[in-house]
Amino acid sequence: MEWIQLENGVKMPRLGLGVWQSGVMTEQAVLWALEAGYRHIDTAAMYGNEEAVGRAVKKSGLPREEVFVTTKLWTDDVRRGRARDALMESLRRLDMDYVDLYLIHWPAEGYRKAWEDLTDLYHEGWCRAIGVANFEADYLDALSGVSDMKPLVDQFESHPSFANQPVLDACLARGIAPVAYSPLGKGKDLAGNDTVKRLAKKYGKTPAQITLRWQLQRGFTVIPKSADRGRIAENAQIFDFKLRKKDMEAMAALDEGRRLSADPHDFPF
Ligand SMILES: NC(=O)c1ccc[n+]([C@@H]2O[C@H](COP(=O)([O-])OP(=O)(O)OC[C@H]3O[C@@H](n4cnc5c(N)ncnc54)[C@H](OP(=O)(O)O)[C@@H]3O)[C@@H](O)[C@H]2O)c1
Repeated sequence: MEWIQLENGVKMPRLGLGVWQSGVMTEQAVLWALEAGYRHIDTAAMYGNEEAVGRAVKKSGLPREEVFVTTKLWTDDVRRGRARDALMESLRRLDMDYVDLYLIHWPAEGYRKAWEDLTDLYHEGWCRAIGVANFEADYLDALSGVSDMKPLVDQFESHPSFANQPVLDACLARGIAPVAYSPLGKGKDLAGNDTVKRLAKKYGKTPAQITLRWQLQRGFTVIPKSADRGRIAENAQIFDFKLRKKDMEAMAALDEGRRLSADPHDFPF
């Protein structure tokens, strides 16, 4: 495992398990991941599985401080100015007294006020770090001066067919740790791509491992989702090899600018 130190000194593991749409498998998937060495779980109020994440962390027997837990403030709660109540509800569902990272899930109207509230919650100790998701450079800039904090993390879509380099550059220039969501492109076409297949053969790795490694070397933390024990373990074997420069370039050439998720400037929820 590798860690990245956020600007406030908190260390975030560079591999996490995403649990969006893990459904009834969530508790089991988190347990498998913790067994396989993951120490970072990415959930959200909107995923409806915070209880299962909390149960799994307890059942694992690991000390709470060894697992980095992220959850997120949903858009309805941003619009209604409910950040404080929403975080307390998340903590009740997780059965935890703090989260490691609390994110504004999307830049819904009211996100500047939400940022002020997250800053207060951070200073009160309810979250060890705060950040945003789906924020592009203009949204990041709109937060400057809102409080005495800037986002420590920005989580956004990035995978081979949507590298999202401008947002990655915006984060790196601002000292914000970038986290890639849907790093496997939701698993679609992964094994079918000739470049990825060729590199998998060359390095003796799987297409998923090549894809995740490419993201790590670009500077991302990755949070692949899987509810399958074998694939959860597979996705963790990414710290024991390094892609060469020309292979990084071959991966970058797969970018088609094709999003799989909503556009942060036009989302209907
Ligand atoms: N902030 C946001 O707005 C936002 C949006 C989307 C996602 N996220 C977060 O990011 C996480 C990951 O994104 P995602 O779930 O959209 O997509 P993803 O991680 O790119 O892909 C998940 C899909 O890939 C499959 N898969 C996993 N490992 C594989 C492997 N080794 N080989 C082949 N297929 C594999 C999974 O199937 P199996 O389960 O069957 O293995 C699943 O169908 C989410 O779970 C969530 O925590 C955040």
